[in-house]
Amino acid sequence: MNTKRAMAQLLKHLQNAGVTHITAVEIPKPAPPTLSKRMPPAGRPGQQSVDRSGSVAASSPADPVSASGKAASGSPVARSYRTLIPPADLDASSIKKPEPSSLTLQLLEEQFETAEARSDALSRLAELVSRCTRCSELSATRRQTVFGTGNSQARIMLIGEAPGADEDARGEPFVGKAGQLLDKIIESSQLRREDLYICNILRCRPPGNRNPLPQEACNCREFLDAQIHIVKPEYIICLGTVAAQNLLGSSQPVSKLRGQFLEYNGAKVMCTYHPSYLLRYPAAKAQVWEDMKFFMKDLGVILK
Ligand code: URA
Repeated sequence: MNTKRAMAQLLKHLQNAGVTHITAVEIPKPAPPTLSKRMPPAGRPGQQSVDRSGSVAASSPADPVSASGKAASGSPVARSYRTLIPPADLDASSIKKPEPSSLTLQLLEEQFETAEARSDALSRLAELVSRCTRCSELSATRRQTVFGTGNSQARIMLIGEAPGADEDARGEPFVGKAGQLLDKIIESSQLRREDLYICNILRCRPPGNRNPLPQEACNCREFLDAQIHIVKPEYIICLGTVAAQNLLGSSQPVSKLRGQFLEYNGAKVMCTYHPSYLLRYPAAKAQVWEDMKFFMKDLGVILK
């Protein structure tokens, strides 16, 4: 049945039921089809600086953030903040937990207060990681390790899966196609990449970009945990199912984990789809945009 005919039938039905007036309702705008259209140019008014020197700093009076940090418009999104059970006990499976390195143990004992102390600790850890041979296949096939980059005292840490070919060549996370899309997501969310800290579950590229093996994730976990301890982010964003499941010790897919804040070692964790997934299924960009709106609202920034 075509729409006009269906509408005519519906009106007739309402009339028969005694309805004489229909109140006008405002139809909410659909989520933006792409994130790239919303990308404000870097450094322009409207971008937020999010680092440990203060809370999110609005750079323009036109910023869509009310003084109280509450939503300027729209109804509040009711989401839960709950704590997951700690990561699954890896010793209980066939996975063998490696002997922790003395440097990591030492770093985990320390508290880091300044950017310099954090940068220094991260450099020492990166140097150790660059010589790691725990995963024989990965250490034999990598060009270099991809430790992580960004602000050593970032309030927000992003965790992906593992380096791909571009990252393996450059030694930096998220510099290929997925990284370019991630940059757009970051900028669209009024964040700046240089304020964030970005790393992965693995520090070496799995051959053919296969998924990390559980043993590989376990071998690399000590370094991830040390990075989290040193940077001490308030927020962690897990990009994709591999990051979310590994960090949180969950078996749920990211589609089930998104839309809420979880908790890991004192940080509020939000999970969303991986940019590579968005390259394959662009329709999911709308959900990532919802996730970023939800996330930024917690920082006091209302994204339109
Ligand atoms: N995908 C990831 O998960 N991490 C990277 O660094 C690049 C692509």
